[in-house]
Amino acid sequence: MTVWPTRTGLDVFDRIDSTNEEARRRVAEGMAVPFWIAAKRQTMGRGRQGRRWTSEPGNLAATGVFSIDGSPAEAALLSFTAALAVADTLTALAPEAEVAMKWPNDALLNGGKVSGILLESLSADGPAGLVLAIGIGINLEHHPDPQDTNWRPTSIKSETGRAPDFDFALLVLADSMQTWLDVHRRLGFAEIRRHWLARASNLGKEIRVRLGQKTLHGRFRDLDSDGALVLEGPSGTRRISAGDVFLPGDT
Ligand code: BTN
Repeated sequence: MTVWPTRTGLDVFDRIDSTNEEARRRVAEGMAVPFWIAAKRQTMGRGRQGRRWTSEPGNLAATGVFSIDGSPAEAALLSFTAALAVADTLTALAPEAEVAMKWPNDALLNGGKVSGILLESLSADGPAGLVLAIGIGINLEHHPDPQDTNWRPTSIKSETGRAPDFDFALLVLADSMQTWLDVHRRLGFAEIRRHWLARASNLGKEIRVRLGQKTLHGRFRDLDSDGALVLEGPSGTRRISAGDVFLPGDT
């Protein structure tokens, strides 16, 4: 049964600048964690690597705020945990479509980018541990114009013919996140890594990775125990900690 996680707050906005920004304000005001902030529309949605994230009505923008034990490097691995929660959410909302993961934390639906995750630290390591904002955008109904992205964007509606209900999508996401956070807490990143690799797109195949102005070509070999992508290229094997992956078919 899908249920809202216990003792977890929720505020839903019709319109807000960014759910990650609202989460930051709430934590600064002393709001108790965990909680979720969700919005039907964001006017200043943020993406990875300083990009904008467009959030139109019909899509889901949500940020879960959690307190985490462990170092900042360990906390960063939660983006993979969140990606598995998104993958399960997509499977529940679009069971007929194919769900896959793209490094570091994108979820693909039938090969198109349908979701993005932006993890931000909201507090320094304190007695309550690190406070993390895990911001998630899911294209339920709309997606950006493909001309504005270097990969194929998609939405659940484009792949299945219907857009899921906002409230239901949020409920499934919060429930899945709780499940995967519990897995991470009990069994550690090794278990998350195992599940992530089982759903990884293009594992063992040729990919491109863009690091700033530089593009590397190679075979996607592995996800290492620190969350780095292991790329086997013509001049040897490299571990990549930050960048954008491009799959065959992306521009
Ligand atoms: C990406 O670039 O792929 C990450 C996109 C993350 C977007 C989400 S939408 C909810 C939350 N609020 C934001 O401003 N960004 C994240």
